[in-house]
Amino acid sequence: MEIILVEKSPPLKGKVRINGAKNSALPILAASLLGTEDIILEDVPRIKDVEIMCEVLRSLGAKVEVLDEGLIKINSKDLNNHVTRYDLMNKMRASLLVMGPLLARLGKSKSSLPGGCAIGTRPIDLHLKGFKALGANIETEHGNIEAYTDKLIGDKIYLDFPSVGATENIMMAATMAEGETIIDNAAMEPEIVDLQNFLNKLGADIRGAGTSTIKIKGVEKLGGGSHQIIPDRIEAGTFMVAAAITGGDVIVDNVISSHIKPVIAKLKEVGVEVIENGDSVRVIGTNNPKAVDIKTLPYPGFPTDMAAQFMALLTTCKGSSVVIETVFENRFMHVDELKRMGADIKIDGKSAIVRGVDQLTGAKVKASDLRAGAALILAGLVADGETEVGNIYHIDRGYVDIEGRLVNLGARISRKIVEEE
Ligand code: UD1
Repeated sequence: MEIILVEKSPPLKGKVRINGAKNSALPILAASLLGTEDIILEDVPRIKDVEIMCEVLRSLGAKVEVLDEGLIKINSKDLNNHVTRYDLMNKMRASLLVMGPLLARLGKSKSSLPGGCAIGTRPIDLHLKGFKALGANIETEHGNIEAYTDKLIGDKIYLDFPSVGATENIMMAATMAEGETIIDNAAMEPEIVDLQNFLNKLGADIRGAGTSTIKIKGVEKLGGGSHQIIPDRIEAGTFMVAAAITGGDVIVDNVISSHIKPVIAKLKEVGVEVIENGDSVRVIGTNNPKAVDIKTLPYPGFPTDMAAQFMALLTTCKGSSVVIETVFENRFMHVDELKRMGADIKIDGKSAIVRGVDQLTGAKVKASDLRAGAALILAGLVADGETEVGNIYHIDRGYVDIEGRLVNLGARISRKIVEEE
């Protein structure tokens, strides 16, 4: 079994380059099923979730070649299978994102209900509401979902919640539907804008991504093109918190700082110095970090995917902080693990009350999901002694060589193989 061993580390110093965004790469890889000519994607992060998505595309009949670090070529001309394998869907919830493209290209899609992070019930009703509005028949039985139609026809769809995945899936399904589709109360995340830009390069006609109304005019067919994935705002935020929690001085490079405004604002409230300079951000920690409150919200609010890492920082800040999670149910799985490291946290429904402690202590802990795993590594950097983080496959789903890049900044962290207990 692999674990990540973290020792109390000096203040981090140096420069780290941020990779392409996982949450942009996954829908864009899925959207590559829509085009019938060569597609080249740049800055695709080398993470487990991308590997799984490439496997999903191959299993559906697409050709996927990794040309170089971060460079992937896809050709979906011979797309010939509408069934997503159970084992792949079970490994990664985002496999669900091939449903929209399959409906658009083949008029049918079948898969099992998705697996993914253990962060509460994650229904897919809004994805299905969209497909139905476009004229698809939906059948769910024996744990499978099947969608099929002779023809997709544009319609007006109101999302009850601005779901990122549902917005993306509906956008992709609508690219070749007859007439116009309008998605209201759409998610506004930068990854949605990236998907729109990519689809338009293939010949789609989409406007409005980044606002709450997206208009998609159906086109005959989509071709090919090349596209560079935007930088990962959550990876950037994680390294920024690493600099802050250790009282370090780190330049985080390849960042679109407007995408991480709430993280920058909250770091400043803590007392951390954040200097934006073009596409890099310098983060200088403080000896006297102050407690702040956090409320997660859909973009442009504070990202739910940064709450666990920020909570790790708050466990070391003077005073009491409240972290309110409004996007997902049950996203406090890391709290018990942080408490094993000496953190003082109480959960009350959707809120966690964090009282800063003078010193965290190293312990054996387990990652319950991707961001929870990152939070435990961050806590380990300042905890006395050794922290052994288990279940690190969650971390590998979304971070490229996290330990190697932290070592470059001076962290004492390594990956080890230990006997299973
Ligand atoms: C995406 C991100 C994930 C991030 C999340 C919220 C990817 C691959 N993953 O996940 O990292 O944490 O956005 O920023 O991009 N919901 C419904 N019905 C639906 C769909 C969603 O009720 O049909 C609910 C979910 O249960 C959840 C909320 O909406 O409570 C947000 O989910 P959503 O925005 O869809 O997240 P994902 O696209 O799954």
